[in-house]
Amino acid sequence: MKLHPGFGIQIDKCSTQQITQNLREHDLVLIRGHNFDQTQFKEFITEMGPLVANFYSFAEGSAMELNKGEKEVGVVRNKKGYLPLGGHMYINSGVGSWHYDEVSKNIPGLYYSAIYGAKSLTVGANTDFLSMRLAFERLSEGMKQTLRGLEVINQNRPLRTWTTKSYNENKIKFNTEMDCEEVNCGPIVKKDQMGRESLSFNPRSWVRFAGWSEEESTPVFEFLTKHCTIPEHTIRHNYQDGDVVMWCNNTVVHYGVANYDIDSADREIWQLMFKLKGNDNDNIR
Ligand SMILES: [Fe+2]
Repeated sequence: MKLHPGFGIQIDKCSTQQITQNLREHDLVLIRGHNFDQTQFKEFITEMGPLVANFYSFAEGSAMELNKGEKEVGVVRNKKGYLPLGGHMYINSGVGSWHYDEVSKNIPGLYYSAIYGAKSLTVGANTDFLSMRLAFERLSEGMKQTLRGLEVINQNRPLRTWTTKSYNENKIKFNTEMDCEEVNCGPIVKKDQMGRESLSFNPRSWVRFAGWSEEESTPVFEFLTKHCTIPEHTIRHNYQDGDVVMWCNNTVVHYGVANYDIDSADREIWQLMFKLKGNDNDNIR
């Protein structure tokens, strides 16, 4: 069942090969009705390809705390005492931000995120997904031509999206766990595995185009962010326990919607990032 005319599909449980093919064609795949523990979730995803990033264990008091340091499965929980990780918790202000999942270094080629709904709420705590491929299609030929060949410089800058309160409360831990180096993330127009062009930039982390000043770049990025993030390009996902959602980070950005009580709701999702097996796409530009 299509989730949007232009991207995203819900499919039944099927072979790894069929899932992979759907992911290539539709950019986002939803499969419901799994019952995984963290190890099983990791095994399910690594069937499709190698993991590309680890997550820091920010959680206190959870199983994740038993082994400090980087974790393969990222756990997002909403409980007091847990440092923010991702989406609206990242800024701790009750407002989310459009972004793709990234670590503080560039990952070459196409890479994917997967979320497992471990403990869902009946209402709220949605994730919105947005097709940057559809957004690119709707630009004028002149703008498309201007953007082809430009490269994006990113930076993890806490103060760009964090509230001052959140930053002050967490800065000691985050200063040790995040760097603020500029990273060249490659062309802003990339091709997906079907050869389709897509915008590829992180609305939360862009700084400028390579070779451009920030002052010159900002109006273009602000236009693009506004152009991309209209509802026509989006899907809203309401999690059920056992959901697996996978998407291509290069062609889809997402937004953790804070439409629930982020301080007290007992909600948990798990997250992994991976590449597709058998696709040597590191040179896709
Ligand atoms: Fe995210």
